[in-house]
Amino acid sequence: MNEPAARLRSLRSVALRTPDARQAAEFYEHVWGLDTVESDGGAAWLRGTGQEHHILELREAERNALGKIAFSVGTPREVDEAARRLTAAGIALVAEPGRLDRLDQAGGGYGLRFADPENRLVELSAEVEAVVPGDACGREAAPRKLAHVVLNTVDIDAACEFYTTVLGMRISDWSEHQMAFLRCNTDHHVIAFNQAEWTSVNHVAYEMPSIDHFMRGIGRLRHQGVTPLWGPGRHGPGNNTFSYFADPAGLVCEYTSEVEQVEEDAWLCRVWRRVPELSDLWGTAGPPSKDVRSHMAGIPDAGRWWEK
Ligand SMILES: [Fe+2]
Repeated sequence: MNEPAARLRSLRSVALRTPDARQAAEFYEHVWGLDTVESDGGAAWLRGTGQEHHILELREAERNALGKIAFSVGTPREVDEAARRLTAAGIALVAEPGRLDRLDQAGGGYGLRFADPENRLVELSAEVEAVVPGDACGREAAPRKLAHVVLNTVDIDAACEFYTTVLGMRISDWSEHQMAFLRCNTDHHVIAFNQAEWTSVNHVAYEMPSIDHFMRGIGRLRHQGVTPLWGPGRHGPGNNTFSYFADPAGLVCEYTSEVEQVEEDAWLCRVWRRVPELSDLWGTAGPPSKDVRSHMAGIPDAGRWWEK
């Protein structure tokens, strides 16, 4: 592929499949701090305080899985151009360019869908419905936007090759040959791949507007009996704060803040050693426990199996 299919502007949203989507929606609204924008039978769309119509979509399925990852592009024209380039590169479209409401997508917009090499569904969209931003810096400790999604992969090099070549993402840093952090804008990473035994979602991170909101969010969860699986702490790669929790389905969600901002032309990709002083800069979190590792490994996800 000579040119990437599109210029990604941001990570818009993630869709998760869980056996009890209603219970998950309750958690993300009443405990985690998101707001439900729309719900329809087994599906729910939740927003943060930022400008995205929704950042999380929840749908019912027999077992936990990644439903899709959605990126924004600038215009419907860019969606059409992406369709041409993907097709020319031999990547089959799962949904041709068109209005997304025909695919029961709340917030609508114009987009397309295709599958990555591990059968994860990827959506590119433009002209999604606008919403009035919430008060991000108010007293309420609510996530502003999606920060990143970490994906377990069986082939980290193939995954990086696809997302850099086809989607034009850049590798910001490596954590040895175990994790790769990819960006599509000034945020240090919006996607990270983790070399693993099987394909699955490792965790989804939500950005708090400040470190104070981050800590207050942890405090609110603590008062509701939800304690971190790992954290709080600050990671080396990305220099972001972290605190990991398990949602009612056992999927890992993270509060983060202060993600490093990349100056495109000045950034040099590094390889970080996996030592405690680099993965836990403050020395507050200690190494990840067996329990958090097993939640992050999740269960094998063949991708799009619910469509059959
Ligand atoms: Fe993370």
